[in-house]
Amino acid sequence: MIRRVGGNSRIAVLALEGPSPGLKDSYRSLVREFTDRGEPLVPFPLSFANENFEAFLAQLAGCAQGIGIPPGFVPHSTFWLVEGDEVVGVSNLRHRLTDALRVEGGHIGYGIRPTARGRGLGREILRLTLAEARRRGIASVLLTCAKANAASAAVIAANGGRLASEEFVASRGEVLQRWWIGEEA
Ligand SMILES: CC(C)(COP(=O)(O)OP(=O)(O)OC[C@H]1O[C@@H](n2cnc3c(N)ncnc32)[C@H](O)[C@@H]1OP(=O)(O)O)[C@@H](O)C(=O)NCCC(=O)NCCS
Repeated sequence: MIRRVGGNSRIAVLALEGPSPGLKDSYRSLVREFTDRGEPLVPFPLSFANENFEAFLAQLAGCAQGIGIPPGFVPHSTFWLVEGDEVVGVSNLRHRLTDALRVEGGHIGYGIRPTARGRGLGREILRLTLAEARRRGIASVLLTCAKANAASAAVIAANGGRLASEEFVASRGEVLQRWWIGEEA
């Protein structure tokens, strides 16, 4: 897929792909950028051990089938946003909601490589992951986002998000927003 990304004239080949062994070094450098900056690992599969990359990929494949996931978790799929031969973002689609995900987490989490931010890639990774959700028959997508995370709120709004509620979540010590995209839930 060829798309113009961001407000400048840069043309980039962007695709949302399943995790693959060929991009191991790029994926690892993305995770390193998060950890070097002390950023939370979002989406959460960024925290999965990947020293044994084959085992890591097998773990992600299992998660999508509901295999090897902790009690209370639902099957979830992980995608990589690939620009050229670099992993520039990671998203995670929960296949259905739980009471816990309704409070925090929602259907989709995403993160963009810190050095690739501000070029419209956040908007793109959500747009492409929403297409994956639709493909799986998820008509209404819930996203949760810290009120203080202005960049993420802008990404959600740009993808047609409707702000449904804001609530202080004690376990996080901050206000979380709940956004819906798609049919009214
Ligand atoms: C949130 C995140 C994905 C945004 O990625 P990005 O590639 O920088 O986003 P984009 O370039 O698509 O920018 C989208 C919008 O956010 C705005 N934005 C970007 N950084 C911003 C900031 N620091 N403060 C306010 N707005 C910001 C942009 O101006 C743009 O708004 P516009 O469409 O009105 O022009 C990225 O910051 C990230 O990975 N954060 C850490 C993980 C995270 O918070 N994930 C979301 C959890 S809910």
